[in-house]
Amino acid sequence: MTNTLLVTGGAGFIGQNLVHQLLAVDPGRRIVVLDALTYAANPSSLDPHIRSGRIRFVHADIGQLDEVRAVFEAETIEAVAHLAAESHVDRSISGPDLFLSTNVTGTHNLLKCALADWQRRGRMETARFLHVSTDEVFGDLTPDEPAFTESSPYRPSSPYSATKAASDHLARAYHRTYGLPVIVTNCSNNYGAYQHPEKLIPLMIIHALEGKPLPIYGDGSNIRDWLYVEDHCKALLLALTRGTVGETYNIGGGVEKTNLAIVRLICAALDERFAKSEVLSQRFAKCPAASGTSCSTLISFVKDRPGHDRRYAINPDFAKQALGYAPNETFASGLMKTVDWYLDNESWWRTALSTDFSEWIRLNYAARQPLARPGVQVKTAE
Ligand code: NAD
Ligand code: TYD
Repeated sequence: MTNTLLVTGGAGFIGQNLVHQLLAVDPGRRIVVLDALTYAANPSSLDPHIRSGRIRFVHADIGQLDEVRAVFEAETIEAVAHLAAESHVDRSISGPDLFLSTNVTGTHNLLKCALADWQRRGRMETARFLHVSTDEVFGDLTPDEPAFTESSPYRPSSPYSATKAASDHLARAYHRTYGLPVIVTNCSNNYGAYQHPEKLIPLMIIHALEGKPLPIYGDGSNIRDWLYVEDHCKALLLALTRGTVGETYNIGGGVEKTNLAIVRLICAALDERFAKSEVLSQRFAKCPAASGTSCSTLISFVKDRPGHDRRYAINPDFAKQALGYAPNETFASGLMKTVDWYLDNESWWRTALSTDFSEWIRLNYAARQPLARPGVQVKTAE
């Protein structure tokens, strides 16, 4: 692998996991983390490595060209893993503008600065720009359609996926037009440690622990293809080291589940943990499982997300064959690790909750009236 690696968005969910994996597998490598520290960042796990000098942290906004350029001037960057983004679909629906400045202009600023720097230093052959993207750029699938491949057409549905699609096009255009050594990955939904509580799996775990309703959009039949975050990070490092310049790799877990099934599995995992631990029942007394009732009694169906994609599924065959990528975790093992991580790291998620989170919960869920469904208990989402 090349020398200094710039990780944008390294204080976020996947970025933080990627940095931890790099520290473990490549201890000699210099890592520069660039992050604007938005509400989604909670990088306390990086602090010891920043203090020890193992990581240099740069507080910068990729939407600001001069801030990005300054990093390339100060550091000899040999590779970029670009993860910085506004990443939440619901926030893109209530406020799309920021998604354009970060996901589109921000990506363009990075491409432009990397190109200028690598051309000037004669590094176009050896450097790498890994652009980390999502399967959401492909739009959604009907129940019977085959999973997305690298050649599936782009049909983004939300402002989030539209801006990610635009950034993918720019990254590929910089390769085709200027020869920038770009590699693109499109991955399915991730879950695991350090994910912000606004996303489905952590939100449901935390709400269950606090005895709050578990707000499932619509009828809960929307399908996502889930991948444990450490498996995604392994694939990203493989793409960086073994990937072919100009190539795209689809990364997925091959675990298609409805949202309702996911929430039921989370409830079952929590019920199991509480049944074996008196300490948990004391720590989280508001959780129904603390008094022997299943967390699933908190399930509440609420108004659907506008434009809600029905189904995502990734065909990862090309990445498996070309990169040797293979996920380690099953969904059962990955989910249990994730549930345990949130049980063990309450102070981490309480910090995330204390930023703008209560305002976000009010904004996103107040207008989502619970939907009455036969035989289903209805609760309000707040
Ligand atoms: P996240 O929201 O948890 O983290 C994003 C990070 O980017 C945060 O640390 C934030 O502070 C930083 N950031 C935001 N705007 C910035 C700006 N203008 N300048 C610098 N930093 C900024 O997101 P994530 O889930 O870790 O996703 C990382 C990347 O992976 C994104 O590009 C996302 O599109 C992609 N992706 C995510 C998933 C998923 O399931 N989470 C799946 C596939 C692809
Ligand atoms: P999310 O974690 O926001 O990821 P994405 O929209 O990028 O797939 O949501 C995953 C799925 O869970 C999606 O179909 C929307 C649904 N969802 C709910 O049903 N309730 C919620 O409170 C949230 C946050 C998501």
